[in-house]
Amino acid sequence: MSVMEDLDALEARAKEMIATATTADALNQARVALLGRKGEITALMHMMGKVAPEERPTLGKRANELRRMAESMIEERGANLKRAAMRELMATEAVDITLPGVRPKIGHQHLINQIIEEIEDVFCGIGYTVEGGPQVETTWCNFTALNAPMDHPSRSARDSFYIVDNAPGSVDHPEEHAHGESDVLLRTQTSGVQVRTMLAHKPPIYMIAPGTVYRPDTPDACHLPQFNQIEGLVVDRGITFGDLKGTLDYFVKCMFGPDRKTRYRPHFFPFTEPSCEVDVSCGVCHGEGCAFCKHSGWIEILGCGMVDPNVLINCGIDPDEYSGFAFGAGVERIAALRYDLPDLRTLMTGDMRFLEQF
Ligand code: DAH
Repeated sequence: MSVMEDLDALEARAKEMIATATTADALNQARVALLGRKGEITALMHMMGKVAPEERPTLGKRANELRRMAESMIEERGANLKRAAMRELMATEAVDITLPGVRPKIGHQHLINQIIEEIEDVFCGIGYTVEGGPQVETTWCNFTALNAPMDHPSRSARDSFYIVDNAPGSVDHPEEHAHGESDVLLRTQTSGVQVRTMLAHKPPIYMIAPGTVYRPDTPDACHLPQFNQIEGLVVDRGITFGDLKGTLDYFVKCMFGPDRKTRYRPHFFPFTEPSCEVDVSCGVCHGEGCAFCKHSGWIEILGCGMVDPNVLINCGIDPDEYSGFAFGAGVERIAALRYDLPDLRTLMTGDMRFLEQF
């Protein structure tokens, strides 16, 4: 076989090797086998010295053509393989960056906290401070210092959640046990913060105290075993019932609107004397009487009164020098009145369809 025939066969083989390489690796192997240091085409170039001088130009030209052909075929095949690989990637791993993203859900304050903040704004605006106290409270702060007699029904285990601590070394005050339970309980009212504030600060005191309270009530449309109150306390020189009325009228108008009226009904609380319950004129019938206000035209919203001198004495304040008023309102109740909520229990569920309305 002549050298020329060898070259034709080599050309055919080279074309075949390059065309059938389906990966970058396979193509590289073909390149090494043809054009590498020990490749077939390289070997052909080295052979040139051994052929007869008259054959050299034709043969040399043919060998060079073969080398250039192989080089350009490899380059083109490489580019094709790269394009195919990219097309494959685009088809399998493409991310459409123009699609809208997943928006994180941003929550908002619970209605009860919104109302607490609103009430804080009203009272901070007239110079009050916001105080707090523990939810696990002593019976002394929750009842005794507030002038509640030892046999007051609210002290009963049926009306308070007592916390019994039998741990060795725990300090107990049996004289505080009205019904043989314990001297520690989940506070049943925020009124204990009055005591803590008076013990911690000298008058003048102008404060409110929002917070959670607990009572062993079965939940129904109007009762929750855990709910929130806002307490208020003013102690200063010369405070009168007129100050109480003026302040609470202002508060009611801020919360329910300027056209709402208030009514003060005599009542009894151990820690105030005199004591009242405050009604606000019904927002549904404007005082005419309707099902919402049980046809009375009025809705009860809070308890209040002039601080009993015994409470001031229990907290180290001289009742001859100072007088004061106090009030306590249920936050859930205010929410229910504002938004006509038929069932307080909805406030305790996590039902977003309800909560998102506020
Ligand atoms: N602590 C009372 C309750 O839970 C509400 C209350 C009434 C608070 C009169 C007061 C007040 O400060 O003066 O029913």
